[in-house]
Amino acid sequence: MPVRAPSSPSDFAAYYQLRYRVLRQPWNQPLGSERADDDDAPSTTHALYSTQAGEVVGVARLHPSGPGQAQVRYMAVDPAFQGQGIGQQLLEYLEDAARRQGLTECILHARQQAVPFYERLGYRVVAPSHQLFGTIQHFLMRKDL
Ligand SMILES: CC(C)(COP(=O)(O)OP(=O)(O)OC[C@H]1O[C@@H](n2cnc3c(N)ncnc32)[C@H](O)[C@@H]1OP(=O)(O)O)[C@@H](O)C(=O)NCCC(=O)NCCS
Repeated sequence: MPVRAPSSPSDFAAYYQLRYRVLRQPWNQPLGSERADDDDAPSTTHALYSTQAGEVVGVARLHPSGPGQAQVRYMAVDPAFQGQGIGQQLLEYLEDAARRQGLTECILHARQQAVPFYERLGYRVVAPSHQLFGTIQHFLMRKDL
């Protein structure tokens, strides 16, 4: 199973490095800006996708965000590996983890360009949400689990 929880220090180093490279570096954000306060919380579920050669090419995380509710954040697939079903496998892994925790809906704030990806996987736009770095419009989306 190529999707799994990161466990070793080198797993976590590769995990945060990819998160930074895909979601922060292109907007000249400083190293460290890819981290969230609750990344180390026991309730946060991390997922990574590694190739047979052991290269980490996809990452995502999930946390409980309200009664019965999960939230997905920091979903990132290496540009060289996008469009091969890796994002879908990561999302399904996290949704399964949420169901096992008894959570019944999942929300996320999608970048505009990622909205069709989430729609394809059953999410619907609720409303526009914030703008990141002054340019990236996000949309609140949700799905029943
Ligand atoms: C968005 C992202 C996570 C999707 O991961 P991915 O591995 O490229 O997506 P998948 O290959 O699993 O796609 C699953 C399905 O969604 C579709 N899809 C993916 N991206 C799409 C897009 N931008 N527009 C339309 N459809 C898209 C795929 O065609 C596929 O459908 P199919 O099974 O009918 O072929 C990835 O492209 C990425 O990291 N983008 C840059 C960072 C980003 O925007 N992250 C999300 C922040 S909210």
